[in-house]
Amino acid sequence: MKASVAVLAGDGIGPEVIAEGLRCLRTIAGLFGHEFELAELPFGGAAIESHADPLPERTLSACLAADAVLLGAIGGPKWSAPQAPLRPEAGLLRLRASLGTFANLRPVKVHPALADASTLKAEVVQGVDLLFVRELTGGIYFGDKHRDTHSATDVCTYTVAEIERITRVAARLAQSRRRRLTSIDKANVLETSRLWREVSARVVAREFPDLTLEHMLVDAAAMHLMRRPRDFDVLVTENMFGDILTDQAAMLAGSLGLLPSASLGEGRRGIYEPIHGSAPDIAGRGIANPYGTILSVALLLRHSLDLGAEAAALEQAVAAAWSDGARTPDIAPAHGRALSTREAGEAVISRLQRPG
Ligand code: IPM
Ligand code: MN
Repeated sequence: MKASVAVLAGDGIGPEVIAEGLRCLRTIAGLFGHEFELAELPFGGAAIESHADPLPERTLSACLAADAVLLGAIGGPKWSAPQAPLRPEAGLLRLRASLGTFANLRPVKVHPALADASTLKAEVVQGVDLLFVRELTGGIYFGDKHRDTHSATDVCTYTVAEIERITRVAARLAQSRRRRLTSIDKANVLETSRLWREVSARVVAREFPDLTLEHMLVDAAAMHLMRRPRDFDVLVTENMFGDILTDQAAMLAGSLGLLPSASLGEGRRGIYEPIHGSAPDIAGRGIANPYGTILSVALLLRHSLDLGAEAAALEQAVAAAWSDGARTPDIAPAHGRALSTREAGEAVISRLQRPG
């Protein structure tokens, strides 16, 4: 098939991990006979420097015209002062809103060979296989903001329609998995959460009677995720709770660098990015973990290009590399040898093959 992918490497370790993701994508294209048109575009802090805009017009229109967007990471100390006039993060939020990608999928799966990489006990994390569905274009991230000399305000709003559509995405995914859905809120304090609880309960009862739905307060969820993570299947939550809980849940898998994400809207087009940030402290040293980006490429193949076999081949190559001990410094044992970003990419590519 022919497909176009807009590539936004961004800042910090973004370009290093994206380079490995692209090498995997090109290898897949060669093995399976596809033609992927890859356009690299300015984004984030790098685009603030070159275009005085974290999301230049030409980048946004290329993303709108592409079949999928592959993104590295954004941000850095240079653009994060409290008074900074332009922030890379604003470009990312505008991109998510402009593409209508309201559903952010963040799978957390513990590979048996990496159970010892977690700071948690292997017996607690072994076998974890859960999926966060984070609402991505609403809530406190997008509400009115106000600042004066003695106060600041961020407004959190959710509409019934926003809660219905994210609940449906999560519920459909739960139907294809173990049929357990946990909806996370703070209904004992927040009005938006009380609406969330009401609407999600109604949608599941009417449209997904085959699912088991459980409501959980966000503070309790943070605790249960560490205590009994295997009990969770699909978790659905609002934007900010999802942001926080997914960084926390990443530690079940051992490192923030391992986790991919897919941000989807109504159509097939999506944004694919590792959940980690730009890690300015290690940028440019060739030691960043590219697996989260490579697994994001697999999600891109599956969700936006409908290439399930190619996605599975890539995921199997990553799993095989891990089984063979291909570890970057963030997941390497204390005295073991660690691979560079490039070597980790190579470990995957050399195990990639066309099935059958
Ligand atoms: C994430 C990131 C972003 C978010 C930042 C960079 C705006 O932390 O994708 O989780 O908060 O959504
Ligand atoms: Mn985050």
